[in-house]
Amino acid sequence: MNNIAANVNSVFQENFSSTPHLYYSPGRINFIGEHVDYNDGFVMPAAIDKGIYYAIALNNTEELNFHSIDFKEDLTIKVADIKKLTGWKNYVLSVVNEFVLLGLRVRGFDCVFGGTIPNGAGMSSSAAVEGGLAFAINELLHFGLSRKELALLCQRAEHNFPGVQVGIMDMYANIMGKKNHVILLDCRTIEHQYLPLELSGYKVVLINSNVHHSLASSEYNVRRRQCEEGLLIMKEEMNITSFRDIRKPENLLTIKDKVSEEVYMRCLYVVQEIYRTQQAAKFLQQNNLVEFGKLMFATHAGLSKLYQVSCNELDFLVELARENAGVIGSRLMGGGFGGCTINIMEEEAAENFLSTTTVAYQKKFQVNPEVFEVQIVDGTHSITQLQKISAGSSI
Ligand code: GLA
Repeated sequence: MNNIAANVNSVFQENFSSTPHLYYSPGRINFIGEHVDYNDGFVMPAAIDKGIYYAIALNNTEELNFHSIDFKEDLTIKVADIKKLTGWKNYVLSVVNEFVLLGLRVRGFDCVFGGTIPNGAGMSSSAAVEGGLAFAINELLHFGLSRKELALLCQRAEHNFPGVQVGIMDMYANIMGKKNHVILLDCRTIEHQYLPLELSGYKVVLINSNVHHSLASSEYNVRRRQCEEGLLIMKEEMNITSFRDIRKPENLLTIKDKVSEEVYMRCLYVVQEIYRTQQAAKFLQQNNLVEFGKLMFATHAGLSKLYQVSCNELDFLVELARENAGVIGSRLMGGGFGGCTINIMEEEAAENFLSTTTVAYQKKFQVNPEVFEVQIVDGTHSITQLQKISAGSSI
């Protein structure tokens, strides 16, 4: 049996008397389309085999009992007393609160969770915590919300108690992921299509800079505001309603003198990234991973120079990747200011690249980077049949 799932299951049995339902809730990667989900753009995420496991059972009371294995902390609270607290507690309580806000009667449950996503690595452990719990509550209490409704509920939850104004990408990937496919999500319409990812000869590897993105949530909200500010001027000057209506980056020159240099750079990045993601989707459909990868490098340059959400460590990792012919695409992934780079590399080049990168990074920053090869898996799902995971699958 998968060790983590088994552990979550047994910690539950030690603490509570009933038999729990088990769920797997994945973290996510994003190939391209960064910081555009809240700007009506396109994103290309996928659910991965690093995630959160939940063991959960109704307890016939009005009380919620949580135990976080990773934080070694408990929380007991009545549904009627739910309020904003701190840390992980805000994520789980905010999810429950969103069901309550919909007028649904949440009953008490016991819940143990723990996972394999490194904290602050940009693989969206928060969406995994939220998505797994939302999915489980919806199923156990027969609320009948669709997967898309659950993703939107989790997004509202993250806006509410944790107070981070995230876009829809992470929750969507968590809940809608499909094995061996990327999700091409149109964040304007919240409609998606699945594109198969044929990796023959290549692998997807994350390199964790181990820089914890502590700036991420405050700077994230700043970026959002800067984009909103730019959009407001664009609406006045250019007769458009969304970043999507700007067909060519040159058209942005209309507002160059009317906004600060920073706001202009943010908007330019967004318009370019929306265009790049559509190009990338075409290359993926043609199975042209090499051209796809070049766009990933271009995204990194934009995130670093125009959107300014990178850091020396991430720039260094991407530079090493760029210098290695076996790596066809690399960029920082997620909100930025630390966390991981996502890399597509030739299988044969991987070992050598990863060991030289590890040594060079260690030497420059006196920090060990972590390397994760990731597999693309289905979105949040029940794993009640434990034999399934004992049969060798990593989830
Ligand atoms: C975080 C947010 C997402 C998205 C990315 C940047 O992961 O949760 O909504 O905006 O940053 O692309």
